[in-house]
Amino acid sequence: MKNYVNWAILAPGRIANAMATAMNGIKNGKLPNISGDKIRLYAVASRNLERAKEFADKWHFEKAYGSYEELYNDPEVDAVYIANPHAFHLDSVLGCLKSGKHVLCEKPAGCSRDQLNKMTSLAREKNLFFMEAMWTAFNPCIREIKKEISAGTIGNIINIDSRFCNRNPYDPNDRNYDPRQAGGALLDLGIYNIYFAMMLADFSPITAESSAVRMLKGVDAWNSVNLTFENGIVTSFQDAMDVPSTTGTHDAVIYGTKGFITVENFFMATKADVHVYKNIWGSENEVIREIREPFAVNGYEYECAHATEFILTGRTESDVHTFKKSEDLIDTMDALRRDWGMKYPWE
Ligand SMILES: NC(=O)c1ccc[n+]([C@@H]2O[C@H](COP(=O)([O-])OP(=O)(O)OC[C@H]3O[C@@H](n4cnc5c(N)ncnc54)[C@H](OP(=O)(O)O)[C@@H]3O)[C@@H](O)[C@H]2O)c1
Repeated sequence: MKNYVNWAILAPGRIANAMATAMNGIKNGKLPNISGDKIRLYAVASRNLERAKEFADKWHFEKAYGSYEELYNDPEVDAVYIANPHAFHLDSVLGCLKSGKHVLCEKPAGCSRDQLNKMTSLAREKNLFFMEAMWTAFNPCIREIKKEISAGTIGNIINIDSRFCNRNPYDPNDRNYDPRQAGGALLDLGIYNIYFAMMLADFSPITAESSAVRMLKGVDAWNSVNLTFENGIVTSFQDAMDVPSTTGTHDAVIYGTKGFITVENFFMATKADVHVYKNIWGSENEVIREIREPFAVNGYEYECAHATEFILTGRTESDVHTFKKSEDLIDTMDALRRDWGMKYPWE
């Protein structure tokens, strides 16, 4: 059996550059718990051969293909990282799985539960590894935050408050503003607010209610949501493509009965401060720990290393970002879209 994975990248756009940086970092030994020899930077496929060649040269991949079909047909490709806009994930994931490739697919893997089910069913049938590339699941800073919560440092969690608000000027060609590409803030940004809370609440959301949503050209540009989890924890969040928030654009606060944890850039956290209350009213607090967990490369290396190890050991479903977690995520987003009457053109 081979002791390395021949990785390929499908759709070399914005996020593919970040993953290629991470793959090169692993290859160059930047992650202590995985040998660089376990990864071979094998191929890149784009709908445009020149784009594939340019990307392959830049990031040291051996082959470049001008169509995804050529990638599917190359028997040397073991695993594919899929990085096109969400609406095209279904075709690409099924194309890879049908040709016997393991898959790491950008988030959200499916634009609906129905799409996700088609992916997980085929992965199971073919006995291939499949995982939604939810990089936050592997974040070392969040792992430390979870340790503090488990140790009871901030007491019982009551509420998780987060904002993921960007200001991207309206551009009809940008995937985020295009319903045909499953644009909108929820699937692009809100997915992180939901996942972050799911990780910390350790339960599935049972109700999803939104108090406001602003639609723009058929997609949600801004939304404000409350989710309640099975254990009573509530998360309140806002995500937006064209609205900066007032209290920091990507920050979260986890409130407990004895204190709270502030997290900068929660979806790609490297810094968090653990505060405990100094009196019963909570009017004074002190920082008892500054969590600082800089990335070994850029944060995408952890999910890639995880997928590589699972593929090499013949395991087909992650034990960290499981199918069930992908299902809970898309079920929550489906429920919100239903409330908003928001459908994609093919639905
Ligand atoms: N994990 C993260 O932090 C993170 C961050 C950003 C995005 N993402 C996810 O990554 C995915 C891609 O996002 P991105 O911002 O990188 O996308 P992008 O740069 O707009 O597009 C990526 C690639 O997808 C293909 N593509 C673009 N528009 C297309 C269209 N209209 N029809 C068919 N193919 C098209 C192109 O590949 P070809 O070269 O083959 O034409 C393009 O290079 C999304 O699902 C997004 O949610 C994840």
